[in-house]
Amino acid sequence: MNSENPDRLVAPEIQDGESQDLSLRPTCLGEYIGQSTIKENLRVFIHAARKRGQALDHVLLSGPPGLGKTTLANIFANELNVPLRSSSGPVVERQGDLAAILTNLEPGSVLFLDEIHRMNRVVEEVLYSAMEDFTLDILIGEGPAARTVKLDLPRFTLVGATTRAGLLSAPLRDRFGIQCRLEYYNPEELKLIIIRAAALLEIEIVEEAAMELATRSRGTPRIANRMLRRCRDFADLETGGVITLKLVQKSLARMGIDALGLDKMDCQILRTIIEKYDGGPVGLNTLSAAVSEEQDTLEEVYEPFLLMQGFLQRTPRGRMATRQAYEHLGMNIRSENQLHLFSNR
Ligand code: ADE
Repeated sequence: MNSENPDRLVAPEIQDGESQDLSLRPTCLGEYIGQSTIKENLRVFIHAARKRGQALDHVLLSGPPGLGKTTLANIFANELNVPLRSSSGPVVERQGDLAAILTNLEPGSVLFLDEIHRMNRVVEEVLYSAMEDFTLDILIGEGPAARTVKLDLPRFTLVGATTRAGLLSAPLRDRFGIQCRLEYYNPEELKLIIIRAAALLEIEIVEEAAMELATRSRGTPRIANRMLRRCRDFADLETGGVITLKLVQKSLARMGIDALGLDKMDCQILRTIIEKYDGGPVGLNTLSAAVSEEQDTLEEVYEPFLLMQGFLQRTPRGRMATRQAYEHLGMNIRSENQLHLFSNR
C-alpha cells in the first residue's frame, strides 16, 4: 500500500527499530498521555462494561497514523482483562477467513481489525450480524440445495482502526457503539511522552530539548519516539549521550526536518503546488504523479498534518497552498491568480 521513501519519519508501517516502540507503549489508561476527552469517556465505558460483566461495545478508532490506535486496542484488552486478537482489513481476504477468526474467539475478547476501511465489502457483510447479535450466517452447499446455517458466536468487542473513517460503509460505521476520532497531540503532551520514553529507554534528555522535539514531531507520538532514538544516535557520538537543545536542532536539521516539523516531502508537496500549479487548485492524482507519492499516502499521511497546520486547503477543484504555506517556505505570491484568491478570503 504505502510506497514510502525509506528515510521518511512518518511511515505508518512498523519499520526496523520500531519494534522497540512496543515496549514504550502504555499498557493501561493511567499511563496513556493525551487524548484526554476520549480517554475519560473510554474509562467510563470500560468500567461500566466490567461492572456489568459484559463485553465492551464495539469501538471505532479513526485518525492519522501514529496517534495510538493500536495502543488503545491493547489497553482495552488489558483493562478488561480479556485476550486480544489482531488482524487487518486487507489480510482478511475471504468470508471464511473472518469466520475462522470469529469462531475461535474466547468470550469477551477484543478483536482488533486495523485498516478496517480496506476490508473487502463481501467480507465486511459477515461482520454485520456478528457485531449486532453475535451470530454468523454460513452458506452450506451450492445451487438449489444451498442453505444458510446460523452459528452463535461468543460475545466480543470489535475494535476497528482506520485512517479514513469517511471510506467506511454506513452499515459498518453504524454498528460501532463507540466512535473516537484521535486528534494530533499538542506539544506539551508530546513532551511528556518523550520524557516518559526517554526514561524507559534510559536516555538522558534535557527538558528544553524534549520540548523542541515535541514541537517538531507532527503532533504524533510515533514520530516523536522515532526522532528521540535518532537524536540518541547523534548524542552518543557528539555529546556523550546527553540530548541537549542544540543537539536536537542539529540532528533535525541533518534529517531534513524544519522548524515546524515539516519534512522534505511535506515541503515538496507545498512547493510543487506553488511552483508548478500556481498555488493550485490541483487535483490529487496530478499532485501524486508530480511528487511521486501514492494518492493514499498523500491523503492519509501528509495532508491531514498540512491541513491541520493551515498550509493546505482542500477545495472541490483540488488542493491549494495557503498564504501561510507561502510565508513558511519564504516564497512570494507572484501570480495574479494567487493575489486574486488570497484577496478574496
Ligand atoms: N507512547 C506513545 N504514545 C503514548 C501515549 N499516548 N502516552 C504515553 N506514551 C506513549
